[in-house]
Amino acid sequence: MNGTPWWLKIAAKIFLSRLPVGYKFWNRLRLFRHGNMDNSWLAANKFILHLDRAYPDNRPDHFTCLELGPGDSLVTGILANALGASEVYLVDVGSYATEELSYYRSFCQELKKRDFKVPDLSGVNSFLELQKQCRIKYKVNGLDDLRRIPSNSIDLIWSHSMLEHVRKREFPALVSELRRIISDKGIVTHNADLKDHLGGALNNLRFSESIWESDFMAKSGFYTNRLQHRDILEYFINAGFEVITDEVGRWPMLPTPWVHIDKQFKAVPEEEISIRSFHITLRPSVQQTDSQ
Ligand SMILES: C[S@@+](CC[C@H](N)C(=O)[O-])C[C@H]1O[C@@H](n2cnc3c(N)ncnc32)[C@H](O)[C@@H]1O
Repeated sequence: MNGTPWWLKIAAKIFLSRLPVGYKFWNRLRLFRHGNMDNSWLAANKFILHLDRAYPDNRPDHFTCLELGPGDSLVTGILANALGASEVYLVDVGSYATEELSYYRSFCQELKKRDFKVPDLSGVNSFLELQKQCRIKYKVNGLDDLRRIPSNSIDLIWSHSMLEHVRKREFPALVSELRRIISDKGIVTHNADLKDHLGGALNNLRFSESIWESDFMAKSGFYTNRLQHRDILEYFINAGFEVITDEVGRWPMLPTPWVHIDKQFKAVPEEEISIRSFHITLRPSVQQTDSQ
């Protein structure tokens, strides 16, 4: 759909998402996708990026971790296990990951070529056995699943191009679950892509809140919550996190003319709205006691 105007993409996605076929069908046609499944190493490498951000000096040998929004495959979980994760939660809002064992077997061959400790998949005959062997808990009910994870139990939480997809009304609850789950010395690392998912501009900001947040629009395959970088940081800080690092990428010029941006965003400073991506790392903030 490259080169198609944004408004035609919206119209096409609204129409296609109403047809009675599932996500896996569209994924095969490359129309709705949640990742770079064609290159399993590229997909898995996102985990290494987050691991390096979380532990720039020394990676722990053993840890527990949680990825939000793994998308089309479980390769990040397999890699996390190969790098010492004793328990890996992969939490999504739908059963999007491929269940093809041959895909995971060839990913393990990739790992072997790169001298990683490879999980033994020889006795694995089902998608569930694969998860068990790699200590992966793949959950597909989003916030409800987060609520079932024990408090203070996860050392590393990460997400890649996911925060911007969380329904806006669910965002505060999600962040407060992350604060509950993260261990006292845990680290959270998120990368977010604030470009619209209609061609990489700011066409999503053309719409009023009531239209954009309606289920009709939000369930059509191009939803992003339109939270700005500063809103997202504020949610995390209010939930009890402190920022360790915060890197932003900006547009040199707004890709969508200011005049077309909806009035609710007109009060946002242009330097904020020009942030098109960011990577933050956070940790639980130290609780101040009364005597301090
Ligand atoms: C653009 S895809 C990114 C997939 C993968 N992380 C990647 O970088 O290739 C966004 C993912 O976030 C998931 N997602 C959206 N809202 C979520 C939520 N509330 N909890 C967990 N996952 C969510 C989507 O289902 C999807 O798998």
